[in-house]
Amino acid sequence: MRVAAPPPGLPAFPKRFAWGAATSAYQVEGSPLADGAGPSNWHRFTHSPGRVLTGETGDVACDHYRRWRDDVALMRELGLTAYRFSVSWSRVLPEGTGRVNPKGLDFYRRLVDGLREAGIAPFVTLFHWDLPAALDDRGGWLNRDIAGWFADYAEVMFRALDDRVAWWATLNEPWVVADGGYLHGTLAPGHASAFEAPIASHNLLRAHAAALQAYRAAGRHEIGLVVNLEPKAAASSAPADLAAAARSDAYMNRQFLDPVFLGGYPDELAEVFGEAWPSFPAADLAAIRQRIDFLGVNYYTRGVMQPDPAAWPLLAGKVTSPDSVYTEMDWEVYPQGLFDALAWVTERYGEVPIYITENGAAFADRAAADGTVSDPLRTAYLRDHLLAANAAVRSGVDLRGYFVWSLLDNLEWNQGTSKRFGIVRVDFATQRRTPKASARFYAEVIRTGGAALAAPAG
Ligand code: FCB
Repeated sequence: MRVAAPPPGLPAFPKRFAWGAATSAYQVEGSPLADGAGPSNWHRFTHSPGRVLTGETGDVACDHYRRWRDDVALMRELGLTAYRFSVSWSRVLPEGTGRVNPKGLDFYRRLVDGLREAGIAPFVTLFHWDLPAALDDRGGWLNRDIAGWFADYAEVMFRALDDRVAWWATLNEPWVVADGGYLHGTLAPGHASAFEAPIASHNLLRAHAAALQAYRAAGRHEIGLVVNLEPKAAASSAPADLAAAARSDAYMNRQFLDPVFLGGYPDELAEVFGEAWPSFPAADLAAIRQRIDFLGVNYYTRGVMQPDPAAWPLLAGKVTSPDSVYTEMDWEVYPQGLFDALAWVTERYGEVPIYITENGAAFADRAAADGTVSDPLRTAYLRDHLLAANAAVRSGVDLRGYFVWSLLDNLEWNQGTSKRFGIVRVDFATQRRTPKASARFYAEVIRTGGAALAAPAG
């Protein structure tokens, strides 16, 4: 299907559009070892000196494990109709396999029930980067057995909650797990190996497929995969720039979606990884190519690429522009890229229901004495990206929902709390939550079904 620019018109979203916010377990819950939970690889990683910029851990984070009722009340106050969160695998299965910890499961049961009572649909992600430490000890994503471990864990969750959860996602951003966790070592488990990264990626896909298969047997609703997409442009039309953009696109955008939708890895990956690129069994690829009920797209920025000999092994790096705004993550603000990513998915892989499962920005917020935050840059970011999402809807993309990242300021992985993405401020000394101006803006967009996007910025 070709996706053309939309006709001029006012923002209007489908009737049952999901208006949500997203978080993940390790970033918000705290209490990582409470009530019989086992440690995760992220618990280990943050407790290793030098791994987190600020030296912080997820021991407390947003204390959501204990304050979830207040957080659900806050979501309700903002008018959210959906909440995307992840399950901590090691809360439910402290050793990663085998014995179920009923108290861990109960936490998610209570949360799901609380959300439903508040009229908020739960969207559950099974793996958002925190792996049981016991499984890391057995090789983690490098061990082929992990596909079975993951499917067994997924089945525990389906049996416990599929009667009240209608949207499941297997993995969040497998690219980041392989790239940050196994290629560069900046994220848990902190390995840096070109030989390991393709194996981790492949096993992530095998695990996704195994969980999908388990769901087809045990589940009654919808299940999908969440990927991060970053459209890649070439810095110029020079062949070297075009090739750098193509390698980057293959590595970041097509590495996971081509196998899922088309049954094979992009050719460029063998070139990027050289002798470290294994040949994968055809039967694996056949199993990975399975229908998903929806695709979750996380979108933050684009990449304008050129060759960079220092950027191993991709040999491509981003160029920046003095005309663009960059967030605290140094990510270019580029709303058109969201439209482009959604159109690209629809054109390359065919029509598939899509949720924007993450979109948002870290800016250096300054809170007034009463905790309030005026965050015009974040508000503008949300407005412009929601308009881009709406343009995609009006161009015929089957977009079903939008989740802002994030509900709360939280533990931004190896950046600690130094990067604030929340539409709600969290004072980490007191755990006080205060909706920022961007939260009020988003609430108004929701209340008006998108019409508030048409009002002049201010
Ligand atoms: C995404 C992650 C999410 C958060 C945002 C900023 O890559 O899925 O947990 O860290 O980036």
